Order: sequence, then structure tokens, then C-alpha cells
Amino acid sequence: MKLQNVGILGVGSALPTKIVTNFDLEKIVNTSDEWIRTRTGISERRIVAGSQTTSDLAAEAARAAVEAAGCTIAEIDLILVATISPDTIMPSTACFVQEKLGAKNAAAFDLSAGCTGFVYGLAVGCSFVRSGMYKRVLVIGAEVMSKFLDWTDRNTCVLFGDGAGAVLLGPAEEPGFLSFKLHADGSMGDLLITPAGGARLPASKETVAARQHYIKMVSGNETFKFAVRVMGEVVQQALDEAGLVKEELDFLIPHQANLRIIEAARKRFNLPPDRVVVNINRYGNMSAASIPVALDEAVKNGRIKRGHLLGFVGFGAGLTWGAVIMRY
Ligand code: ACO
Repeated sequence: MKLQNVGILGVGSALPTKIVTNFDLEKIVNTSDEWIRTRTGISERRIVAGSQTTSDLAAEAARAAVEAAGCTIAEIDLILVATISPDTIMPSTACFVQEKLGAKNAAAFDLSAGCTGFVYGLAVGCSFVRSGMYKRVLVIGAEVMSKFLDWTDRNTCVLFGDGAGAVLLGPAEEPGFLSFKLHADGSMGDLLITPAGGARLPASKETVAARQHYIKMVSGNETFKFAVRVMGEVVQQALDEAGLVKEELDFLIPHQANLRIIEAARKRFNLPPDRVVVNINRYGNMSAASIPVALDEAVKNGRIKRGHLLGFVGFGAGLTWGAVIMRY
């Protein structure tokens, strides 16, 4: 069977308008702008207001991606939402997005792979198009982390932000996606976890009182060291699989969890700073949304152009990690 070449037809993103600075956080937890900036590279993040939710941001990003692709909503065959902050446990956020878009012809489901969700989503979405099963697949990374954060826990609340990014995948004349490498190690699942609200620990008065329905990070430092090691490794694996070398990469778009992680991985991988896309200072860690939002910004400001060789690399809860090499 001949496999279909697959490319990105359009990109879009959506960010809440409300900006929360480090100075704002100084007023609610025992932290400082200086600590947050020097340890993470984050200066501010976007946070949704009122009842705005993950599917709202996802639908807005999706509409922008479909418009950028010059396609119609009716053409979408599948909507895939990568998220760890879904509107509800059941049904999927993707079904809410389908309804908001009016995408009557689309199947819809969510994918949970922590901050690697968008990278996993690209692999899944690409496989549907490559096999010929579907022609137009929306892959969305969308998070409203702010509603899952414990705003009394300085270890976590300063790190994250809300946002969504989307790509519309479809058939291409030339090969767009060249290689995927996905990994997981469930033995480290408790490092980053939302302990209560699932079947393991159903929500109760006690779990709420113990704040176990919020995101917990057990050892930030362990995740830090892990991330630095695997980011370089997995990009190299994906390049090897594509038969390319790192000097050919025009841009690396890493998951934006911590500027020091990005910098350490960049140096280990020996890439010049201008070939790595970084926006963590303005948005914090938007989990599955961070890579597609960075891609959309770099496309909009003209830095990334058609024909460029791109690497996407992520790591996150699970633990999961993965990389994609593609010609944009
Ligand atoms: N303000 C001030 N002090 C703080 C804050 C804060 N916001 N947060 C933690 N601290 C304190 C701690 O209490 C601790 O104090 P202690 O030494 O008195 O106990 C100290 O700072 C911790 O210092 P370090 O461990 O040296 O901090 P480090 O340089 O490792 O930075 C950080 C911590 C930012 C969490 C870093 O380890 C990191 O970014 N790790 C990766 C985390 C990550 O990426 N998580 C998301 C994964 S993606 C996903 O799937 C959700």
C-alpha cells in the first residue's frame, strides 16, 4: 500500500487576554519575581477569566488553523485534543470542540500524554492521514492549567499558564512529516500527578480538603534532570530515523517548561540560540499547548517559513517524551 505524504496545512493559536505577572504572584504566595525569572525564565503567563474553558481556547485556535489552511469546517474528518486539563473527565474536550466548531463530519477524541501531548497527537493525526483513512485532521494542544493549580503551592502555581495551539494536517505533495520517536516510562508516573478525582482516588470531601484534586509535582529537580537528558537524546533518535543531521535543522521548537532546561538541552545538543524557538518568558508552561503556540508565533512573525526543517520535542507527565522531525 502506498502511504500518503502528510503536511501541516495551517496553524493557529488562542491565548487568554488576562496577564498575570510574577509581581502579581508575589502577592499570593511566598515567592519573588527574581526567583521565578532566574529559576524558570518566566516573567508572566496568561490565565483565563470567568467560565472560559479548555474547549473555548481549543475551538478558537482550531478556527484560526482551518482558516490559515484555506479549508472549511465541514472538511474536518477528525478532531484530536491533547490535554491534561479537560473540560470534564467525561465526555472528551474534543467533543465539546466539535460542537463549538459545528464540525458535523468530524470524529473526536482526547489524548493524554502530559506536556508531550501535542507531539503524541501529531504522530496519531499524521498516521490517520498517511494511511488514507482521513484527509483533514485537527491536532490541538489546549490547556487551562490555572483551574487545576493549587494557588497556595508556590512549587507549582508559578510555573504554568493557559493557552491553545492547533494545526490542520492533510495530504501533501512532498513528505512533510519525516520521523516520530515517542517514549514513556510509567515507573515515574507519581512525579507529576493530579492524585484525586479518578478511579484510584475518587473525589470526596477528604480529597478536596487535602487539595489532592490539584496538580502535584513531587520532585521538580528530578524532572529537570530527566528532561535535559532525554530532550537531546530523542531529537537525535528522530534525526537518525529521518536520515538527517542536526546541522540541517532550521528550528527546534521545544516544550517550554523551564528556560534552563531548554538552554541545557540546546547546549548539550550544540545548537546556536537563534535556531531554538523560545517564548516561555511570556506564557509559562502551557503543557500540551506550548509547542503549537510557539510554532504559530514563529510562523506569524515570519521566522519559520515553508520548506524549513523543524524539530518538535516534548517531555512531561507520565513520564512521556518524544520528538518529531518535519519539513514545514
Ligand atoms: N518561589 C520561591 N522559592 C521557591 C519557589 C517559588 N515559587 N518554588 C520552590 N521554591 C523553593 C523550594 O521550596 C526549595 O526551597 P528549599 O531548598 O528551602 O527546600 C527551593 O526553592 C527549590 O530549589 P531547587 O530545587 O534548587 O529549585 P530548582 O532550581 O530545581 O527549580 C523548578 C525548581 C523550577 C521546579 C525546576 O526544578 C524545574 O523547572 N523542574 C522541571 C519541572 C517541570 O518541568 N515540570 C513540568 C513538567 S511538564 C508536565 O507534564 C506537567
